[in-house]
Amino acid sequence: MLERISVQTHDLIIDGRRVPASTGRTFDTLNPANDAIIARVAEAGPEDIDAAVRSSRTAFEGAWGHTKASERGALMLKLADLIRRDEDELVQLEALDSGKTVSAIRRQDLPAVLDTLVYYAGMADKINGQVIPARTDALTYTVREPLGVVGAIIPWNFPLMIGMWKIAPALACGCTVVLKPAELTPLTALKIGELALEAGFPAGVLNVVPGFGKVAGQALVDHMDVDKITFTGSPGVGRQILHGATGNLKRVTLELGGKSANIIFPDGDIDTAIKAAASGIFFNTGQVCSAGSRILVHESIHDDVVQRLAARAKSIRLGDPLETATGMGPLVSEVQMNRVLNYIDIGRREGASIVTGGSRHGVAGCFVEPTVFAGVKHEMRISQEEIFGPVAVVIPFKDEEEAIRLANGTVYGLAAGVWTADIGRAHRFTRRLKAGTVWVNTYGPTDIRLPWGGARDSGFGREHGEAAIDNFTEPKVVWINIGR
Ligand code: NAI
Ligand code: MG
Repeated sequence: MLERISVQTHDLIIDGRRVPASTGRTFDTLNPANDAIIARVAEAGPEDIDAAVRSSRTAFEGAWGHTKASERGALMLKLADLIRRDEDELVQLEALDSGKTVSAIRRQDLPAVLDTLVYYAGMADKINGQVIPARTDALTYTVREPLGVVGAIIPWNFPLMIGMWKIAPALACGCTVVLKPAELTPLTALKIGELALEAGFPAGVLNVVPGFGKVAGQALVDHMDVDKITFTGSPGVGRQILHGATGNLKRVTLELGGKSANIIFPDGDIDTAIKAAASGIFFNTGQVCSAGSRILVHESIHDDVVQRLAARAKSIRLGDPLETATGMGPLVSEVQMNRVLNYIDIGRREGASIVTGGSRHGVAGCFVEPTVFAGVKHEMRISQEEIFGPVAVVIPFKDEEEAIRLANGTVYGLAAGVWTADIGRAHRFTRRLKAGTVWVNTYGPTDIRLPWGGARDSGFGREHGEAAIDNFTEPKVVWINIGR
């Protein structure tokens, strides 16, 4: 299996075929656990993006546009079957390409991918308009029409899962998709594109075009025949996408970063809270948009929580993501590793103290020790900026007012958690926390049935649930004059 992957060059998937980039260019994708090149991938440029968009347009106006809604759902279920069949290969590829652990992919990502696909497959033939009796002299109703060609630009932290969050609702709605995976993790997106062809999706319904953000991503964003961009990634690129989308006034959904607060009161279940706080920041090596990266702890239990959190951090087993006993893999790339190490330095220089971790782990691969900072001040950069690595900052608070002020005091607004047994306090916090999701007495779970997204620099729009159907359709009003 590894042998086969290492010799392969992966072409783009455009219009039902595997094709090299029009320039003939390729790029390498690495395994961040050992820096080895695992595959060579065709690098899409503007010409390839244009070919992919034209193909998706043709499919939208043609074969896909003529496919019954129930048949779209059936094809999606077929794709789910093929994903189940090739689950082992998908798990391996995802782990090799991203450094995510096989155990987490199998436990979390893959089930979420299938749940997403099956959920939206079932929705494909339930996207209904409304009869709205506005007048007595007319029959007035709405139909929900698919937006058209969707450009999906996805990150490297959950390539399969976030990819499916975008592909599944778009296809259910009758849109066609040009999928641009992150340059660091293109392999599973290509595999999904192949499986979609095998399932029988018409050519052009799902084109997959790996390439670099500034070139392939930007070309997709700038393309005048793309109707919608759905993006997950950094706020900086989110802003660029908004600029690029002005050309033909594309619809845009942005799911960006966070600096989410996980707030622990003494009346909460402290054992569970500490466990959840650790996985809230260390899961996926901290590369999670909703990571609970700021742990706010009531001053009466602060020192105890810090010590126990540090003990948990120390006990995490770093190592080869392909081994099932590994608890934490590397960061996705050297760039990300250096970014995280740089933030740790910044924290040190700002005067925060490292309780555990704080260094690179080993000399090969992109591993950073699970790190806990205490003595952190709210204004410090490590408390305000998204680090996107295994770095927790712990900040004490005195009372509810202060906890709310700290929790809401960043540019982000994606998620938050609060631990308390006081039902009144729980509700006061769910009301006052500025976040797209507030967890009470848990941290981190998501479900495809529930809307997902944030405010401010965390982006706008909501994915998941029925909200995603609104993202990929628009109502059309039909007004039939019936006279009087
Ligand atoms: P990024 O935002 O550059 O990459 C995400 C995707 O956007 C990739 O597919 C990339 O190719 C594409 N992209 C980049 N520039 C583009 C452009 N001009 N036009 C269109 N597409 C473009 O993220 P990056 O640089 O890999 O990570 C930097 C930071 O972003 C992380 O440290 C983290 O803070 C944040 N991030 C947040 C994610 C989330 O889940 N919200 C996911 C990935 C990164
Ligand atoms: Mg890679």
